[in-house]
Amino acid sequence: MRITEQPGSLLGASVEDFDHVTASDADIETLKRTVYTKKIAVLKGQALSPRQFLALGERLGRPETYYEPMYHHPEFKEIFVSSNVPENGKQIGVPKTGKFWHADYQFMPDPFGITLIHPQVIPRKNRGTYFIDMGRAYERLPAGLKEEIEGTYCRHSVRKYFKIRPHDVYRPISEIIEEVETKTPAVVQPTTFTHPLTGETVLYISEGFTVGIEDAQGAPLDEELLKRLFEATGQLDETFEHDGIHLQSFEQGDLLVWDNRSLIHRARHTTTPEPAVSYRVTVHDERGLHDGIEAA
Ligand SMILES: [Fe+2]
Repeated sequence: MRITEQPGSLLGASVEDFDHVTASDADIETLKRTVYTKKIAVLKGQALSPRQFLALGERLGRPETYYEPMYHHPEFKEIFVSSNVPENGKQIGVPKTGKFWHADYQFMPDPFGITLIHPQVIPRKNRGTYFIDMGRAYERLPAGLKEEIEGTYCRHSVRKYFKIRPHDVYRPISEIIEEVETKTPAVVQPTTFTHPLTGETVLYISEGFTVGIEDAQGAPLDEELLKRLFEATGQLDETFEHDGIHLQSFEQGDLLVWDNRSLIHRARHTTTPEPAVSYRVTVHDERGLHDGIEAA
C-alpha cells in the first residue's frame, strides 16, 4: 500500500496497491487514519464487484443499510445505488441523488463516520464531487460568529430533499409530509462538536439538511444566523469558486473513502445529462459521530 498526498490541494490522498483481502489490520488502521486526517482517500485500481465492494467496506466498519429500500442494490441491500442508466429497461437505484450540500445521514439520530463511493459509469464531461471541510471552515469563521454559535444546537431533517417514491404517486402531499415527519423526525445535534478521532472542532451544518438553529434551552434563534454560516462556509456559492470548496475528480477504477463527520459534499450539476452510476457503502467505525452519541 502506497499513500501519497494529492498535489496542490488541501484535501485528499491517493492510495495505490491496496487490496482489502490481503491488507493487514495495521494497513486498515493506516488507511482509516488517512481518511480522518486527509479527509478523502482515493483508492486506485479497484474495479470491484458489488460483493467485493461490500467486503472492503466491512473491513473499515459496520455497514449501515439505507432506510429507504428504493435505493438498494438488487442483490446487496447495503449498497446504495445512484443511477440514471436503466438496466434491461428497469430503473435500478435512484437518479440525481445528492445535488445539494449535505453530510450523509445527517438527518438520522446516529450518522456513520465513513462513506465509500465506487463510481461505475463515469460522466465524461462533468465528473467529480464537491466537498467542503467543515473542520477547516469552522477554523476560518470570524471570531464573532464563533462566539454567536457557542453552546447552540441545530436541527436536521430530510424534509426538503426527501424523494417521492414510485408508490407515492397519487398520494396527497400532506400524507407524504406526515409520513416523513413521523418516520424521520428532525434530530438535534450540537452546532459544533469535537471529532472523536482527530480532536478538531467540526461545524456540523449543511444547507440541504439543517433546518433550524436554537439556543441551549431549545428556543429557536433567527434563521438569518444559519444563512450567515452557510454563506461563510461557501454553501451558497453557486459558482463553486469559494476557496473552501474542493472538487474531487475520479476515474474508472477509483474508490473514494471519506470522513463523513467533517466533510459535507454535493453532487456536481450537469446541464446536459450524462450517464452516471455509482455505488455507495457507508460504515460506522468504532466511535459515534461525536462523544455525545454512544457508538452502537
Ligand atoms: Fe451523499
